[in-house]
Amino acid sequence: MSLFRIVYVSDAVGDAAVGLLPWIDIIGASDRNNRRDHLTGILMRHEGRFFQAVEGARVDLDRLMGRLRTDHRHANIQILSDGPIPQRLFPGFAMAQADAPPALKRMLAGSLTDPSVLAQADRILVDVSRAMAAVT
Ligand SMILES: Cc1cc2nc3c(=O)[nH]c(=O)nc-3n(C[C@H](O)[C@H](O)[C@H](O)COP(=O)(O)O)c2cc1C
Repeated sequence: MSLFRIVYVSDAVGDAAVGLLPWIDIIGASDRNNRRDHLTGILMRHEGRFFQAVEGARVDLDRLMGRLRTDHRHANIQILSDGPIPQRLFPGFAMAQADAPPALKRMLAGSLTDPSVLAQADRILVDVSRAMAAVT
């Protein structure tokens, strides 16, 4: 089965920017649905923005993106990358959650249209996936 990964940044709306309950709700639904759909990935939140990577089969990713685009807890979804991948970065996680590392904070502070953003995002995901694999 071909695997794909989508990485995006979005703006959290209202309570979803800081609230614990919306966060728990999002992680809970992600965990439940992504197990069902064999999707894996990671979600981070920093200063009112979400940074998420999801990986899996094309049809499941497209279905998820359809739900994400109508979710009013965030807006302005900016796809940083969407393409085939040789393997998953977060194989053990239906939806991992992590604090934003300094490199992500720096990336979000800059312009997302900067040509270096793709490489930055990839680096961040590889580093975080290694850190997560080390503690499990
Ligand atoms: C930033 C963000 C990330 C989300 N990530 C996922 C996800 O990975 N998987 C998922 O099923 N839902 C995710 N959701 C929630 C979906 O938008 C949607 O509410 C949910 O899939 C509906 O699930 P339900 O039909 O089981 O209630 C996310 C929502 C937000 C705001």
